[in-house]
Amino acid sequence: MARMIIALFNQKGGVGKTTSAINLAAALAQSGDSVTVVDADAQQQAVAYEVPGARILGVEGQAELAQAVGEAKSDWVLIDCPPSLLEAAPAVPLADLVLAPVPPKFGDLSGFARLRETVDAARERGNPHLQLKVLVSMRDSRVGIQANYEARLRAAFGSEMLDTVIPRAAVFERAADAHQAVVHYAPSSPAAKAYVALADEIRKLKA
Ligand SMILES: Nc1ncnc2c1ncn2[C@@H]1O[C@H](COP(=O)(O)OP(=O)(O)O)[C@@H](O)[C@H]1O
Ligand SMILES: [Mg+2]
Repeated sequence: MARMIIALFNQKGGVGKTTSAINLAAALAQSGDSVTVVDADAQQQAVAYEVPGARILGVEGQAELAQAVGEAKSDWVLIDCPPSLLEAAPAVPLADLVLAPVPPKFGDLSGFARLRETVDAARERGNPHLQLKVLVSMRDSRVGIQANYEARLRAAFGSEMLDTVIPRAAVFERAADAHQAVVHYAPSSPAAKAYVALADEIRKLKA
C-alpha cells in the first residue's frame, strides 16, 4: 500500500478524534514519513495545530474532502471527521482504515451499530479491504469502573480493538493551548509515548 488513508471517526464529540489525528500525525512524521491531516470538521480544530513534518488542510463539504484526499501524495492521510455520523459518513468510502477513539465510559458503546453499518456498506460498495479499529482513549486509571467498560469494549470488538490505550492526562489541554501535539510538547510523558506506540501499531496495519 503506497499510502494509507485513516478516518478518525466517532459520532460523538469530545472523544479524542482531533487529539488522536494530531498526535498520530506527529508520531508518524517524527520517523520521517510524510503526513497530511485533512480537517473535515466545520469547527476546524485540527488546523489550529502546528505539526512539524505534517500538512494540515481544512476542507468544507464532501467534494473538497474527496479532492484533498485524492491529491494528497503523502505516506499517510488522516481525516479528522466531524462528530456526526451523517456528516462523517463521506470519509468512510475514501479510507483504508476507520479508527474510532472510544473513552471507556457509560453510553459510549451506543451508536456503534450504525458505525458498523456504515463500514459494512462501504465494504460492499467498492471498498472491500476497509479496516475498522477501536482505540481506547482518555483512559483514567484512577476510575476503577473504566476497567469494566474497557473489558466490555474488548469483548464486543475483539480483534478490532487496538492494544494501545491512550491515558487521560492534563498535558493534552496544555499542549492544545500551545497548538502542539503532546508528542512534541511533552515527548517523555506517558501520553506522548502512548501515541508513539499507537503509530507503531498502526504501521503494522499498512499492508
Ligand atoms: N487523552 C486525553 N486526556 C485528557 N484530555 C484529552 C485527551 N484527549 C483529548 N483530550 C481533550 O479533550 C477535549 C476533546 O478532545 P478532541 O480530541 O478535541 O475530541 P473530538 O475531536 O473527538 O471532539 C480536548 O479539549 C482535548 O484537549
Ligand atoms: Mg474534533
